[in-house]
Amino acid sequence: MTTRPAGQHRARVTTTELMAMKASGDRIVMITAYDTPSALLVEAAGVDTILVGDSLGMTVLGHTSTLPVTMDDMLRATAAVSRGSRQALIVADMPFMSYQASAEDAMRNAGRLLAEAGAHAVKLEGGVAVADLVAILTEIGIPVMGHVGLTPQSVNAFGGYKLQGKDVDSALRLVEDCLALEAAGAFAVVLELVPAELAALITEELTIPTIGIGAGAGCDGQVQVFHDILGIGEFTPKHARRFAEIGSAITKAVASYCAEVRAGTFPAEKQLSHLEAGVVAELERALPPTDGES
Ligand code: KIV
Repeated sequence: MTTRPAGQHRARVTTTELMAMKASGDRIVMITAYDTPSALLVEAAGVDTILVGDSLGMTVLGHTSTLPVTMDDMLRATAAVSRGSRQALIVADMPFMSYQASAEDAMRNAGRLLAEAGAHAVKLEGGVAVADLVAILTEIGIPVMGHVGLTPQSVNAFGGYKLQGKDVDSALRLVEDCLALEAAGAFAVVLELVPAELAALITEELTIPTIGIGAGAGCDGQVQVFHDILGIGEFTPKHARRFAEIGSAITKAVASYCAEVRAGTFPAEKQLSHLEAGVVAELERALPPTDGES
């Protein structure tokens, strides 16, 4: 078993390497990032792969779902992440309606994420229903990560963000979805909000890695949303743990800044630059007299 050392320079992680990690039992670590500073931070921590998730609609753009996220949003975020990343495999989400209407749309938009923004692979939601698209993309050289279970772009069809695959029929449909994605050439599949027992069974069934979120530790890897595990934002989903309280640390720091600006104690001597004494005197002579000066 190998573990990626935090911050140590190595070659870019590839999709084949992620598949090999399943065989060797090395767990895959994935996290979202949406800009250059967050990409630099998660890389320094040693993640294997970065997801430029369409969750950015909710985490950074203030939408209430991922549905309004556009190709322009994804291109800008992916390019920013790419500028902050040297080692992790960058997977970019294909936003809602960028691939569902036609294979042409899917090819053009997936191609843009790789060619213009620097992603190494794309992720799209769905199983059997998108297997043909997955086959077309992989055949033209675009690696695809699948995403089944609770697929947020279908939240209106699901009637909310709910656990999927709870009974035998829906569980078997999920297995079928995963097998269809594998057969179509997907290099990995995200299992979101799936009971742990089912996720473990799917993981055993597949030769490609499963990446869980709310699917238990029996998956080959885990993905989490940057803001959820860092305590940024009020809501923490059940499947996430806050590994730090960065949000309250930021609020506390900005409150100190507010207080010091208002008290006149910031900026202090250390943060200043001075004019040379001769320049001050010359300036004073050159300036017109103010009211009250003779
Ligand atoms: O957009 C996203 O962040 C995702 C993860 C929740 C898997 O798709």
